[in-house]
Amino acid sequence: MAGHVLIIDYGSQVTQLIARKVRGLGYYAEILPANLDLTQSLSRKPGALILSGGPASVEEPSAPTLDPAILASGLPILGICYGMQLLAKFTGGALTREAAGEYGPAQFYADASSALFKDLPPKAFQVWMSHGDRVDTLPPGFKITGHTLDLPIAAMSDESRKIHAIQFHPEVHHTDHGLDILKNFLVLSKLTADWQMSSFAEKAVKDIIERTAPDRHVLCGLSGGVDSTVAAFLLAKAVGTRLHSVFVDNGLLRQNEVEQVREAFTSAYPDIELRVVDAGEIFLDRLKGVTEPEEKRKIIGHTFIEVFGQEAKKLGQVDFLAQGTLYPDVIESISPYGPSAMIKSHHNVGGLPKDLPFELIEPLRDLFKDEVRALGASLGIPDKLLWRQPFPGPGLAIRIIGQVTPQALSILRQADAVVREEIAKAGLDREIWQAFAVLLSNRSVGVMGDGRSYGQVIAVRAVTSVDAMTADWARLPYEVLGNISRRLTNEVAGINRVVYDISTKPPSTIEWE
Ligand code: XMP
Repeated sequence: MAGHVLIIDYGSQVTQLIARKVRGLGYYAEILPANLDLTQSLSRKPGALILSGGPASVEEPSAPTLDPAILASGLPILGICYGMQLLAKFTGGALTREAAGEYGPAQFYADASSALFKDLPPKAFQVWMSHGDRVDTLPPGFKITGHTLDLPIAAMSDESRKIHAIQFHPEVHHTDHGLDILKNFLVLSKLTADWQMSSFAEKAVKDIIERTAPDRHVLCGLSGGVDSTVAAFLLAKAVGTRLHSVFVDNGLLRQNEVEQVREAFTSAYPDIELRVVDAGEIFLDRLKGVTEPEEKRKIIGHTFIEVFGQEAKKLGQVDFLAQGTLYPDVIESISPYGPSAMIKSHHNVGGLPKDLPFELIEPLRDLFKDEVRALGASLGIPDKLLWRQPFPGPGLAIRIIGQVTPQALSILRQADAVVREEIAKAGLDREIWQAFAVLLSNRSVGVMGDGRSYGQVIAVRAVTSVDAMTADWARLPYEVLGNISRRLTNEVAGINRVVYDISTKPPSTIEWE
């Protein structure tokens, strides 16, 4: 595989996005965790190296370090965020730890003469930052190729050694011209764009056939969302009637969701078995008195497995559990490739018990949602299923801050329906990644009908995103916000205040818990 890109992963949440963007540009890329030996990967003759970001501070004693073979290789190198800081440290520059760090958008001024920023507009453009350290002293041989108002050395290059470094993340959607920058680097590295992501479905189906041969049965956890639907479709192609789809009503679903999913799925796939299990009571019972978000997630994950186990018993011998796990679920829950930080236990990954009574099949584990939607469209899955907004496995439980009670669920269900209805009415469904309500645990004083009220607060969250790795708050028209607020306070008993969440990801996440 000569001439491909080798990405060294220092544990960034978005390393897989680098690979994915490089793939999208037509170049093959592979990821190597920074703690593994480089020798074998270098012997496969990559044509360029990309050093990812990471959560550590380069000056910490336990921080991942720069393998000397990287600089010795003489290959073109692009260091991103932590990768830039490592390059600075190991080529003779100096860093400082910032008191506050820099997270989210910044305006970047590129040096127009830099090869890395070739053909970019002369004006400043938005880049996405997420760092606590900064390069303070330029290493010998490097020149500054870009800055922001807060960061004098936001990019640096030693063009004679083909080493480039940028403090921001070109791989995330919210960095303008990120793809152009990656492309410039790949072109500068003299690589040829000759890779295509053509036969993903074929390969996935073939892998499933091999794993489940000759006649083993698969239970697929279906949520009604795009991921599990595409996964179920691939499985049905591979194992036919040995597939048993199970949709668990965990009591944490949105208004009318069970009926809607049943109808949408069975009308699109009358031949795929769908079992709907009413398990609301056990989930709510297990969640009684629990307020800690990770504890909620773990309880829900374990209960799902228990319910799947009961269904499997009814079916006889079932060896596999299939899920529509995506890469963002994986990376936030555990670090599969490198030393990433754990953010939250996505229920279908970090929420699984250690002694899982099934083998797992996760055909979409390396993909992002927009790739899954494209895959689904190529498989002929109807838009109605492909374009449902994402809904987390732990459901409304992680949108109720504090205890999950039937009363809280009832308030949140009504509020969520209002938010989604108003967004749909305004025709904003597709451009918004997710729009939902969160029920806060604090109370606030209000005045209703000349009397004092002491009610609950709904936070409205609406974000734009492409892959859930980064997100921006949606600039909803004031009129839409006004309608939502008026309806929530008038129609949902107990609510007397509405706030709009204007945080980006990072530093926030999309869900509140
Ligand atoms: P966060 O809150 O981590 O969410 O920014 C990123 C995306 O993932 C969804 N999400 C989940 N999906 N199981 C899922 O299947 C989970 O446990 C889970 N937690 C969050 C979230 O709604 C958003 O789209």
